[in-house]
Amino acid sequence: MKKIAVLTSGGDAPGMNAAIRAVVRYGIFAGMEVMGIERGYAGLLEGKFVTMNMRSVSDIIQRGGTVLRTARCLEMKTEEGQTKAVEQLKANGVEGLIVIGGDGSFMGAKALSERNFPSIGIPGTIDNDLAYTDYTLGFDTACNTILDAINKIRDTMTSHDRVSIIEVMGRNCGDLALHTGLGGGAEVIIVPEHKIDIARVCERLEASKQRGKHSGIVVLAEGAGTADEWAKQIAERTGLSIRSTVLGHLQRGGSPSMKDRFLGTTMGVYAVQLLEKGIGNRVVGIRDNKLYDEDIVTACGMKKKFNTELYNMAGVVAR
Ligand code: ADP
Ligand code: F6P
Repeated sequence: MKKIAVLTSGGDAPGMNAAIRAVVRYGIFAGMEVMGIERGYAGLLEGKFVTMNMRSVSDIIQRGGTVLRTARCLEMKTEEGQTKAVEQLKANGVEGLIVIGGDGSFMGAKALSERNFPSIGIPGTIDNDLAYTDYTLGFDTACNTILDAINKIRDTMTSHDRVSIIEVMGRNCGDLALHTGLGGGAEVIIVPEHKIDIARVCERLEASKQRGKHSGIVVLAEGAGTADEWAKQIAERTGLSIRSTVLGHLQRGGSPSMKDRFLGTTMGVYAVQLLEKGIGNRVVGIRDNKLYDEDIVTACGMKKKFNTELYNMAGVVAR
């Protein structure tokens, strides 16, 4: 392959720039021409191709977000849009595409693969909701951002003997809540994968107060409701003083952590090496700390297994 392209799609994630930088620099090293496509699939359909050189990706490894920007594009979900996408790629002489994004973006890559256009996915989403890989780019940085917020909120909750409900992102996946709830020492973790009723939450919080704690932290995954709703229900059922915080898009920004820079770089190189060997229609992942690649269709069909053992462990050590 002599000419490839790279795009970022869906929710942005810290570490995407490290992956873009690696794709461009390793691709040029391998004798390829590398094009960047601006604004995800929307830019692809609009023909927003830019030639990338070694200097195009200077000074970005430490930056959050994506220098190629991203967008959501409904047209790419249509047959016509997918056909147009392949036409645009071919019109620009591109022979292979690297898509950095989440499960939705991989569905776009899958559609291109089904039209015999070689595509490689790199898992870029803070949600960590892709079953085929142990880890997605951005998850570690987002966890550390959330952890910093939990520490700050616990300071003031302790001063006032209060409980805080902290709502985190993750769409329908509870990994951000589970990992930061465990690392942040939350008394209660609420995730969509593990049903817990309001009575049990109230019981846990009141028991925690009885044991002499001066603050209560509840980490809530957005897929399991809103912080305001849960706070209202707890206040109605207990005499606890409650506050709620929605962390929102704070979780999507920030300078990528070492882990996200390391993985972004190594996954970017791995993706180029697949295209260099003429291999397409794969997604790059990490399993038991080892990079590997999986067929796109197989990967998109996998269902993520919730780590109940970790969930139960968090409940015990936070008493
Ligand atoms: P993420 O990749 O972070 O999950 P989205 O779910 O928003 O983000 O998907 C990003 C983009 O991927 C969408 O805007 C659309 O262009 C494309 N996409 C999503 N689902 C599909 C699909 N089923 N078929 C083709 N393209 C899709
Ligand atoms: O998929 C990443 C994510 O941050 C989800 O956790 C969140 O629900 C969603 O994107 C927010 O989407 P938007 O940035 O379009 O508001």
